[in-house]
Amino acid sequence: MWNSEIFETLHDAHTVAAETPAGVTDPRKLRDTLGSFATGVTVLTYCSGGAYHGMTVNSFTSVSLEPPLVLVSLMRTSRALTYLLERPFAVNVLGDDQLQTARQFAGKPDDTHVIDWVTDEDAPRIDGSLAYFQCTPWASYDGGDHVLLLGKVSSFGTRESAEPLLFYQGRWGALAPGGH
Ligand SMILES: Cc1cc2nc3c(=O)[nH]c(=O)nc-3n(C[C@H](O)[C@H](O)[C@H](O)COP(=O)(O)O)c2cc1C
Repeated sequence: MWNSEIFETLHDAHTVAAETPAGVTDPRKLRDTLGSFATGVTVLTYCSGGAYHGMTVNSFTSVSLEPPLVLVSLMRTSRALTYLLERPFAVNVLGDDQLQTARQFAGKPDDTHVIDWVTDEDAPRIDGSLAYFQCTPWASYDGGDHVLLLGKVSSFGTRESAEPLLFYQGRWGALAPGGH
């Protein structure tokens, strides 16, 4: 949505320093400021011990077309990390009707929420997602308190007529209606 009122707001806005150039000393402030980058939301899904698991992730990035590679950044302390380094996983891009699913796999499980699993490929995936990418681990790199995991895409698919779930400064959101 672009109108003159918004333009005036942007025109008057100033971006002020939150930390001095000498160094970042407040990780919380850094984290909050990084949250100014709006993203979509994915859930990484995988099978372990015969059970299906997931982890909500917004650090998903496309990397390469040949070979087809995608990237996620995973906390070293996450349970999923050890599994995802060594087995197929699916990246499920969530639609705006999948907020409960995003919360479910971000440490806020709701026993009444039923996940519709699809299990016809290497890794289980979540039915009704906006898009999915089946991946096998390709490489992993040191990312400080995170590990950067590259996955090689073996297959992918999309759902028609769906809108994305968004995440911005700790809040869930959706595209503005009619914002084309
Ligand atoms: C919107 C959103 C995005 C997230 N993105 C990431 C991410 O990119 N990497 C990460 O390590 N954790 C991320 N998390 C946190 C994990 O989803 C959460 O810690 C999860 O419970 C870890 O699961 P596990 O330890 O059972 O594997 C995100 C959480 C939310 C709500």
